[in-house]
Amino acid sequence: MGERIGVVGAGYVGLTSAACLARLGHRVSCVDTDAAKVGRLRAGEVDLAEPDLAELVAEGLAAGTLAFGTDPEVLADAELVVLCLPTPPGVNGEPDLDMLRSSLARLGPVLAPDAVVVTKSTVPVGTAPRIPGYLGRPDIAVVSNPEFLREGRAVRDFLHPDRIVLGADPPDSPAAHRVANLYAPTGAPVVRTGTASAELAKYASNGFLAVKASYVNVLAELCEHCGADVHDVTAVMGMDERIGSAFLAPGPGWGGSCLPKDTSALAYAAEEAGVDFALLREAVRVNDRQRTRMVRAVRLAATGRPDGELSGVRIGVLGLAFKAGTGDLRDSPAVAVATALARHGAEVTAYDPAVRSGVDGVQVVDDPYLVAKDAAACVVLTEWPEFRELDWRRLAASVDRRVVVDARNLLDPQSLAGAGFTRIGVGTTPRR
Ligand code: UGA
Repeated sequence: MGERIGVVGAGYVGLTSAACLARLGHRVSCVDTDAAKVGRLRAGEVDLAEPDLAELVAEGLAAGTLAFGTDPEVLADAELVVLCLPTPPGVNGEPDLDMLRSSLARLGPVLAPDAVVVTKSTVPVGTAPRIPGYLGRPDIAVVSNPEFLREGRAVRDFLHPDRIVLGADPPDSPAAHRVANLYAPTGAPVVRTGTASAELAKYASNGFLAVKASYVNVLAELCEHCGADVHDVTAVMGMDERIGSAFLAPGPGWGGSCLPKDTSALAYAAEEAGVDFALLREAVRVNDRQRTRMVRAVRLAATGRPDGELSGVRIGVLGLAFKAGTGDLRDSPAVAVATALARHGAEVTAYDPAVRSGVDGVQVVDDPYLVAKDAAACVVLTEWPEFRELDWRRLAASVDRRVVVDARNLLDPQSLAGAGFTRIGVGTTPRR
């Protein structure tokens, strides 16, 4: 039998880690302060729409290798305790560590003498050496093991990671070796560093992705002004192995629960250190501007002018989640654009296959064809593949004007043209 592992936090990182570690042969106890959530998890109910997660939880519960609770006491015999707590943004992007600190204060008296604490939570550089103090246990070893799980692919990313990062001081400490063994079945390369490098590597990766996506969004704007096609340009760029073809899709901006938070946290850390990392602030500024640009594109499509009057104008929105494959609305550019249109007076009706309610000022419907009714313009804001398969002739029958802003460059121009729609993409159509 594998190790006895405690996981603190049953959010998407905690629950995925717990279920996957049980799959890898360990005995896992996962604790969360939310008693109602723990009750549901004990009954095998998973409210996250992560592929394969519910099956893995059911498998672990049935095998007796996965258990859920609210009391940290159950972690008294854990050999490794994995921290998967949220670190939400505080003032100026500085991460708020209150939840982490109070959880560690409760955990400290419980931990076995040779337990190792593993931080998966994204924490500011310099946190690891402070953890024994937060625990009130100077004897406890800490290993920083940042996660790189994407929403909608979390189980796959956990079981088939690109790399495992293990930070310890010193890097080859026995505690780091124990954590490395957990991941041996994945066969992934292990990078051993000090804790500061491991903590920074997580922020650095998300910050770089944010800069990459903002770069492409400005490039798309430039393409619109000089007759170039952003797909051709990014195809050429992506074939250079130094650049890589991922994360080169323009859109309404990047969002979600991680990229925005981590980019701001990295910018804050640089400022605190007196390092000029204006590049990051600029990526954030470009991202805000990109959302505004999409609002202007929809206004232009609906009224003929980028600042046209939207009062009483009906707009159909396809997609609200921050990306396809999830119902997550946190910091979603789609929500930002839809609510901005509503604030300008538009009557916004939206459909998203994974969202049924909860967007201020926007009527959320459960049928994509309802968004088109009397719409002066439709806009695709999330790249759900099913939007490509919609019957655009059927949509054409109920709209007021046949114009669609394809903010994800998702739709097939020929089917749109066949249905009589004017399609306005990002980085392709000349627009002023
Ligand atoms: C991101 C990272 O990709 C993960 O590696 C990391 O572990 C995770 O944050 C985290 O810190 O927990 P995730 O938030 O699931 O994962 O989302 P991504 O797939 O990275 O997408 C982020 C945003 O960028 C989305 O709004 C997406 O639409 C946008 N994006 C992505 C683009 O605008 N263009 C692209 O080409 C790719």
